[in-house]
Amino acid sequence: MPILYDREKPKFHLYNESVSYIIGICAGRFPENLYYGRRIHDISGVKKEHRDNWRALTVCVGGIDEHISLHHLSHEYPSYGSSDFHYPAFSVLQDSGSRISGFAYESHEISRGKKPIPPLPSVYAESDSEADSLDIVLFDAVTGLRLILSYTIFASFPVVTRSACFLNSGSLPVVLDRAMSFSVDLPDSDFEMLQLSGAWSRERNILVRKLTEGIQSVHSMRGTSSAEHNPFIALKRANACENSGDVYGFSLVYSGNFLAQAEVDSFDRTRVMMGIHPDTFSWPLGSGESFQTPEAVLVFSSSGLNSMSQTYHELYRTRLARGYWRDRDRPVLLNNWEATAFGFTESKILQMAKSAKELGVELFVLDDGWFGKRNDDSSSLGDWQANPAKLPEGIEGIARKIRAEGLMFGIWIEPEMVNPDSDLYRAHPDWILSVIDRVPSIGRHQCVLDFSRPEVVDYIGTAIEKILGCSFVSYVKWDMNRYLTECGSRGLCAAGQGTVFHRYILGVYSLYERLTKAFPEILFESCSAGGARFDPGILSFAPQTWTSDDTDAIERLKIQYGTSMVYPLSSMGNHVSEVPNQQVGRMTHFDTRGNVAFFGMLGYELDPDGLEAGEREKIRSQIDIYKKNRTLIRTGLFYRILSPFEGNFTAWIVVSKDKQYAIAACYRVLAGANPDETLFKLQGLSPETRYRIDGRGDQCYFGDELMYAGLRIAQDEWNTRGDFASILWRLGPGE
Ligand code: DGJ
Repeated sequence: MPILYDREKPKFHLYNESVSYIIGICAGRFPENLYYGRRIHDISGVKKEHRDNWRALTVCVGGIDEHISLHHLSHEYPSYGSSDFHYPAFSVLQDSGSRISGFAYESHEISRGKKPIPPLPSVYAESDSEADSLDIVLFDAVTGLRLILSYTIFASFPVVTRSACFLNSGSLPVVLDRAMSFSVDLPDSDFEMLQLSGAWSRERNILVRKLTEGIQSVHSMRGTSSAEHNPFIALKRANACENSGDVYGFSLVYSGNFLAQAEVDSFDRTRVMMGIHPDTFSWPLGSGESFQTPEAVLVFSSSGLNSMSQTYHELYRTRLARGYWRDRDRPVLLNNWEATAFGFTESKILQMAKSAKELGVELFVLDDGWFGKRNDDSSSLGDWQANPAKLPEGIEGIARKIRAEGLMFGIWIEPEMVNPDSDLYRAHPDWILSVIDRVPSIGRHQCVLDFSRPEVVDYIGTAIEKILGCSFVSYVKWDMNRYLTECGSRGLCAAGQGTVFHRYILGVYSLYERLTKAFPEILFESCSAGGARFDPGILSFAPQTWTSDDTDAIERLKIQYGTSMVYPLSSMGNHVSEVPNQQVGRMTHFDTRGNVAFFGMLGYELDPDGLEAGEREKIRSQIDIYKKNRTLIRTGLFYRILSPFEGNFTAWIVVSKDKQYAIAACYRVLAGANPDETLFKLQGLSPETRYRIDGRGDQCYFGDELMYAGLRIAQDEWNTRGDFASILWRLGPGE
């Protein structure tokens, strides 16, 4: 059992081959972190600093025999106001007006496997042998509240998951106004913080900064996890890079407002915490009620960022994603959005589908504009019936015709939104998020439906089920195009308004749950103006997300590279689009656009009939290559080789688990005059295996040569390619 309990100390040691997480119970009351990092046998010395009162200005906790300053304890889930002056993990407002609490260890339970945390998504174990779990139960004698700190350690992943649950077992109501998913105190601050930040169309760019005294944080208060900051941070040692050094990753399985922060104190210790953003949250907890926080997934790597990412990839692909599509190759799709926007007719769609089929496309996706009277973005969200002017036989009719062409068919929906110009809004103006006496803000002419109200979610669920139920739909792109403002609900009293942001996300999850249960074979792809809600919470329902509205191949290098820090290639929707690119106006080679989009789930976003014959031929050949490699791309190990954030070249490789096959690419942004030959050191191969590389003749190369000496690209090989060039290599076993 990889959770050892030492009754004498007392102490819990969660471990597997690569990681140890050790928790003590200080003075029989306070859970303290004794160690988190690379696997060790045990920790013998327990820090004594917190047990003395020798420092001026130090305060010790009252009411217990020992002299303990909570400020100097390495907490597992700290409170504020009783001798610890750092930011707390939680805060409970009581009837008396006090927010002081005194939780103390009461009991614990160690169990095999991993329990779900409804109504929230979480990673799972498929059998009891995959993971072991620990619940530490704390009790506050004054309020009667119980607090359960939950931990799971996986047997074969360097992963510890954490969450907390508050149970009001007292007789009086309280209000939770802060309830982070976890907190952990690390003994030093010699770290750099890596974050994934950006904006619409340039999501998840990598930023690294040195930790310094005070608080450094990323957050969202936009109602979704957001394009601006992803719910993820990593703390890495300054000498840690892609392939070496200690890295701690922290990822939140949640799609709403979040806060991730690292607080460095005056003793150079670091408190890391993550959870629902407390500034937009307050949760009344009546007697007998409980509140479950989202789950945080902690990954430790002693061999750099890439290994941390590979752990997240494998865990999220196989133990977070669920359902029919989890382990299946995804169909190559054609989406009509960039080609037609709202201005399509049924015959245009059918013609595009027919041409796409000839090129090897397997799924046609009809994007925005098929419902209500929607000919631009000013109306009809909420009216989920096909527009007969565009689709005379409805969704069922077009789906049938596209199927007859030999393609699967998918549709776009944006179920969380309503336009004021819609029948739904006219019938239910109070179904939007809003606050009394204030005019709601408008984004893209639309308001946000109040998904904190079950009857609203139910209405939309019934409408969407009607479409999906009778129309041979195989795929749904679930979009979400504006952030939440005036986030109040007409369905709740004043005291409940602080719950709306969280209830909203629970409403989104419940609709996903309903639709994915009702239509288990439909492939759901999430989207939020591109990648503004690309997070583990959504991935547990939709195994892939439209990575970004930015389809420019060069911009995509950064976006996909940054996204890969946490998210597997199986979760990234990547499309080849026409040039000049609609977002940045750049001209890039067709090959480069394909070579970038290959590293994810491939699609096209163009009108095949508008292309020259040569370009259509290229699509045919790209799709052919992709189909031959898509299982490898979806399931292989991904290695980042050269970073687009650091230079003119980007490179990466996916290697099959048995190391027999690989697909690699390198990209050069700008050409330079008279360059030297370039050397690319591949990664992840077997040193002993001889590989043949497609397109490089009969020559075979040992894996060690390709990894340690490198693959040479001669000057003239680059120079015929100009700016925005790329080279793709497919490696297989040689003689
Ligand atoms: C935003 C998405 O990211 C696009 O791909 C497209 O679906 C539009 N919305 C449609 O309104």
